[in-house]
Amino acid sequence: MDSSNKNLVLRILLTISLVLVSEAAHESRGIPSEEEKKEMERQLKAINKPAIKSFKTEQVEIFDCIDIHKQLAFDHHLLRNHSVKLKPTSVPKWPITYDNKGQKVGPMQLQLKGISCPHGTVIVKRTTIQDLINSQHLKSIGFNIPRHVLSQGSNIDLSGHHFATADYDYDNVAGVTGNINLWDPQVSHDQVSLATMAIAGGPKIEQLASISVGWMVNPLLYQDHIHLYTYWTADGYNKTGCYDIRCPGFVQVSKRIPLGVLLQPISVYNGTQKEMDLSLHQVVTSRVSGVNVGYWPQSLFIASGLVKGADLASWGGQVYSPKTEKSPIMGSGHFPKEGFGKAAFVNNIHIMNGKGEALIPQIYTIETHESSPNCYKAKFVHDEDEPWIRAVYFGGPGGC
Ligand SMILES: *[C@@H]1O[C@H](CO)[C@@H](O)[C@H](O)[C@H]1NC(C)=O
Ligand SMILES: *[C@@H]1O[C@H](CO)[C@@H](O)[C@H](O)[C@H]1NC(C)=O
Ligand SMILES: *[C@@H]1O[C@H](CO)[C@@H](O)[C@H](O)[C@H]1NC(C)=O
Repeated sequence: MDSSNKNLVLRILLTISLVLVSEAAHESRGIPSEEEKKEMERQLKAINKPAIKSFKTEQVEIFDCIDIHKQLAFDHHLLRNHSVKLKPTSVPKWPITYDNKGQKVGPMQLQLKGISCPHGTVIVKRTTIQDLINSQHLKSIGFNIPRHVLSQGSNIDLSGHHFATADYDYDNVAGVTGNINLWDPQVSHDQVSLATMAIAGGPKIEQLASISVGWMVNPLLYQDHIHLYTYWTADGYNKTGCYDIRCPGFVQVSKRIPLGVLLQPISVYNGTQKEMDLSLHQVVTSRVSGVNVGYWPQSLFIASGLVKGADLASWGGQVYSPKTEKSPIMGSGHFPKEGFGKAAFVNNIHIMNGKGEALIPQIYTIETHESSPNCYKAKFVHDEDEPWIRAVYFGGPGGC
């Protein structure tokens, strides 16, 4: 693939993951029949594994401590014989540095207050009927969108979708890291605003694999405020993959930090900046605030290109809004030119190469992309001092 193609693929890919969410928004209010409800209750029993201990948060979400060997991931047909790797086999030594004006949101703050899962268990958010109603729509849309993309070629309908990102598109990349600062942009029920880092690869869109991690405001998925999210697909969003652990795949290893957890505290405009360090890498794990949260086993990606290494990496922001509404805030709602303390950023950007070494990417390997520069911008930073050697400011007030 030449580089312009690869960029397109990444943008398509990130856009599709938003389509999955947004299309569902329009149908999510349909009330299921009694029969459908019964079927969903049956499904819930299969999804929600027996809890050894359970907790209810102030947000009325339920978290369960589940036997690590009996979690949902192992319902995946490719993972029947998988044995849990408590520690990833090859963790690169990611250099973790923070701007001395910022504050790290540590694992203690991401842990749910008063919740402590026993040894040998992992913490997972319990799936509800409403989650199922929503994910059914995610699924059905997932079948349609790739066809649409393929048949339309480059004339993809991007209306409603906006992004402002810094993208690495040069050589094989096996992982990424960065510190993302936290904001809580207001959105309407049907809108989405997120900050993410992702890697993606694959020879064709049908074999396109991608994993991403970041924060997201998405009332359909998470009611309100900002939540830690992950997404994966191994086939260009056709049949595989989902957010967090809404389908079997992600193997949770942490008993402290669940996917989908509410993130707090957030940054204050012209005040204290709250940051979280995140990393994704081949084998393929997800670390949050220095805690190994879990991983997607390689066997999920064998049929796709990702096992051999991703072609692309991306850091930045995305939003979605139905055409009938003005697009929401991205990041802090302020443009990159306002800089530290005011604009959203990802700094301390590193990539991991095929040998498992963490590297600072060369300046020329990174380009910014803005879908709607009037509303959202991205600014690549390459200063002398960590963590600003490679960084991106992104965001804007929206209103497109
Ligand atoms: C799991 O192990 C069994 C018995 O060794 C084997 O027959 C089966 O093919 C394996 N399944 C997978 C998905 O590797
Ligand atoms: C989706 O997967 C099915 C079966 O695996 C395949 O027949 C179909 O062509 C795929 N669709 C796209 C758009 O890749
Ligand atoms: C930011 O904070 C500084 C110091 O507290 C203050 O002087 C300045 O006016 C503030 N700027 C904005 C745009 O609020």
